[in-house]
Amino acid sequence: MNAIHSSPLKFIFYFVKKQWISFLFLLIFCGFWSFKEVMFPYFTRNIINALSANSQGDLTGAYLPAFYLILTWVCMEIACRLLAQVKKIVFPQFRANVRKYCFNYIKDHSYQFFTENLTGKLASHVSNVPKSCEKVAELIFINIASVGGACIIGLFLFGIVSVAYSLIALLWIISYFLTLFYFLNQLQQAEAQHSESVSTLDGRISDTIANMLTVKIFSREDLEMDYLRNFQNKEINESKKAINTMEKMKKWHSLQSVIFLSSILSSLFFGWKNSFVTIGDFMLVPMLTFSMLGMIWWLGDQMNLLFREIGVIQSTLNLFNLSTSAKEAINSKKLHLSKGSISFCNVGFSYEPEKEVFSNLNLSIKGKEKVGLVGHSGAGKSTLVSLLLRLYDVRQGTILMDGQDISKVSLKSLRSLISFIPQDFTLLHRTIKENISYGNPNATDADIITSAKRAHCHDFILQLESGYETVVGERGWQLSAGQRQRISIARAFLKGAPILILDEATSALDFETEKCIRRSLSELMKERTVIVIAHRYSTLSELDRIIVLKNGKIIRSGLPDTLFDNENYLI
Ligand SMILES: Nc1ncnc2c1ncn2[C@@H]1O[C@H](COP(=O)(O)OP(=O)(O)OP(=O)(O)O)[C@@H](O)[C@H]1O
Ligand SMILES: [Mg+2]
Repeated sequence: MNAIHSSPLKFIFYFVKKQWISFLFLLIFCGFWSFKEVMFPYFTRNIINALSANSQGDLTGAYLPAFYLILTWVCMEIACRLLAQVKKIVFPQFRANVRKYCFNYIKDHSYQFFTENLTGKLASHVSNVPKSCEKVAELIFINIASVGGACIIGLFLFGIVSVAYSLIALLWIISYFLTLFYFLNQLQQAEAQHSESVSTLDGRISDTIANMLTVKIFSREDLEMDYLRNFQNKEINESKKAINTMEKMKKWHSLQSVIFLSSILSSLFFGWKNSFVTIGDFMLVPMLTFSMLGMIWWLGDQMNLLFREIGVIQSTLNLFNLSTSAKEAINSKKLHLSKGSISFCNVGFSYEPEKEVFSNLNLSIKGKEKVGLVGHSGAGKSTLVSLLLRLYDVRQGTILMDGQDISKVSLKSLRSLISFIPQDFTLLHRTIKENISYGNPNATDADIITSAKRAHCHDFILQLESGYETVVGERGWQLSAGQRQRISIARAFLKGAPILILDEATSALDFETEKCIRRSLSELMKERTVIVIAHRYSTLSELDRIIVLKNGKIIRSGLPDTLFDNENYLI
């Protein structure tokens, strides 16, 4: 586990350290606020003491404390304005640093991580955590620091009257924090569970929205509301649990406040009776007491917020700490391909324990060989290419490319040498040009157009209102499945990697378009190692070898003509 992911506070302080000078200024400016909060009663006490010692109308001794009082106020006003300026500089950058870190961290997780977690839930984490970290940093560096500073000065001021008052106040503060630490774990857990339920609910809502076509064609709108209600109820229950835990702690805090107030007032009466408390002190002590009680009371409310936000961060860290396979190997080398041969040696793999997809799978593909993979739905064809791309790690055995173990090479170099057109192809919500050049960002406009022409999509692209600048909509939904598929083929043309994998890459095309594209695909396959997953004989007829998979096992292999009958059905 990454050390900074071990607790929300460690995580936040990692980002605070990056801007420590700015945070130091925040603390300094907050110090003025704390100073003002408790020095007002003190200066007022000095004025009253001075006036009570003088005859009526004599202001001697009152001018200086009155001047300090005004000066403190002016300094506090200036500090507050400067605080606002520093906040303006610190927090947007702070949020940006956290967001960048979270996105970077999540994007480097394995593909399995994304298939196992709802997209909406992940998006909710990435977008909520920067705000939560900002809130917690603000609460710690502004709210808690100012109240803490005011309490420390307050303790000294109590001591001016009598050390006994300082001790009472100190005992109260200690008991306040001991109670807080006692409930800390429970509060954090309750808030993390609440936050988890919120992001799961977000994930479910976005899943329903993403599948709105299915919802509509099955008229499930009302039933979807019922389905979401369960997640909503869980969120409400978790929220209630978190509030109850907080209230349990607050009951203790209330009791402690009452004891503190009663002790201070009774000792104040005692002091007056025994003549060691002046009239000014008689005003100072209750004013300080109420000021500190008010601040701590307000801080208690802020604690609700603090723990809620810490819970959000904790639930994101729990997600970060999920161990997932297919991570970059330490000291990984670059993959070098000359021939482009592929070998699966005794490969075993399962998505879920006890549900094996492959066990002891052996398969060798020579460099520049063109192999077709056929088999019933669920036979393991797509899984086989996912393992080759290291979207998942094998449980047993090795996969070699030109003799190099792919689990030891860098994922970037591995994937840069493979052009893959997946079965469920979607586009990014960007322009067609950006989508085609996605695997080759340095491609010129001419290169993009040439690839589009070879993939037979140039003509339909020109018919669109903005041509190559057309934004394709989320997941490319503004294009037909066949158009999306042709764009993905254009992308493979442009990438030009030595290994080509087509997973039913022409399944969405009509017969005529497929015929046109087949010529281009044959050209694309030249001088490359190719794996084609297809059901139609027409797509497989020109390949060197066909492999038939059944329940994760190779049951037959041979030339296309030997495996298909006269009607192009698999024998
Ligand atoms: N992400 C996943 N999590 C769990 N099980 C999965 C996952 N993807 C596939 N499977 C299971 O693995 C097995 C092989 O699936 P795979 O997608 O490789 O089949 P396929 O041969 O490509 O089928 P099709 O022709 O329908 O595309 C199936 O039983 C499937 O249910
Ligand atoms: Mg498949």
